[in-house]
Amino acid sequence: MRVLGIETSCDETGAALAEGGAVRANALLSQVKLHSEYGGVVPELASREHLRNLLPLARAAFAEAGWTPEAVEAVAATRGPGLPGALIVGWRFAQAFAFARGIPCLGIHHHEAHLYSAWIEGSPPRAAWEAFEPNVSLIVSGGHTLLVDVPALFRHKLLGRTLDDAAGECFDKTAKLLGLPYPGGPAMDRLAEEGDPDAFDFPRPMLNDPGDDFSFSGLKTSVRYFLRDHRELLEEEACVRDLCASIRQAIVDVLAAKTLRAARRLRRGCVTISGGVACNRLLRRTLVEACAREGIRFRAAQPAFCTDNAAMIALVGEKLLESGRAPTPWAADSEPGWTLS
Ligand code: KG4
Ligand code: ZN
Repeated sequence: MRVLGIETSCDETGAALAEGGAVRANALLSQVKLHSEYGGVVPELASREHLRNLLPLARAAFAEAGWTPEAVEAVAATRGPGLPGALIVGWRFAQAFAFARGIPCLGIHHHEAHLYSAWIEGSPPRAAWEAFEPNVSLIVSGGHTLLVDVPALFRHKLLGRTLDDAAGECFDKTAKLLGLPYPGGPAMDRLAEEGDPDAFDFPRPMLNDPGDDFSFSGLKTSVRYFLRDHRELLEEEACVRDLCASIRQAIVDVLAAKTLRAARRLRRGCVTISGGVACNRLLRRTLVEACAREGIRFRAAQPAFCTDNAAMIALVGEKLLESGRAPTPWAADSEPGWTLS
């Protein structure tokens, strides 16, 4: 089935085309530069950018695949959760496109799409649906930290989530305290590679809590107080690298340990990670090594599919429609607060 996928839930505009599980085009426009001036995503600016860029981006996707709009047999678009104004742009575009062409339109849960982005592999990329196996999946982004049990394709149970800041938010906020530009996660990851992770001892919140929830605001606060009392450390590049390494280690220790513990408890033979923070080098290395030790298969989304993208929306949309999922009624609105049930 030839599917057009649309993603506009936050600050990335995406239009992608997929067919038979293969990605034929994946057009993406990040607004990071625009929002970096403000130190975070400005919702109203995000909606306006989506509005300005979605149509040209969809045209670029059609050109990349060599398809005409008439070739599309179904549309899949992120219906939630996300920024209300941003979601409306993509969802209504998708509905209008599908309605005008008389084809089905399916609303996709953004996190459900992330859950399967680790199964997109190869070049050109395709979804390895045939390789799917029950897994525990960690979705870590700027807005979300979710631990999910996925016993079967499109069946999932939310195990835990962050009670306050998301892991990416913790990277970004602590990076800001260190004077790094927004979004600070990638910069902190780079600097941390040359730092000493044992130089400073920051808390590992909820590491020993038996539940699957996370909390990162305490770590952020601890870094803030530490820097208030040791501002002079920021003058030295080596100290900044050590601070990056120590903060990164604290975040990754918690994410990796809790993910592995859930996989062990549920006897899942596979762990997957996705979302922007899944690009983190230490998180990937730690889980590769720990999973190998425990005989658990590990799949991390390719960096291009870690962050928000429309390819994962198109692929999940195609698979859901082929599995018999009914198209979303035309009267349905976007759902900014849609929870993963
Ligand atoms: O998936 P994403 O684009 O979704 C959101 O918009 O939330 O993720 C962006 C987040 C940011 O917080 C960014 O700092 C973080 O992912 N990030 C990283 C890395 N690359 C991106 N965090 C740590 N290490 C990285 N290498
Ligand atoms: Zn996302």
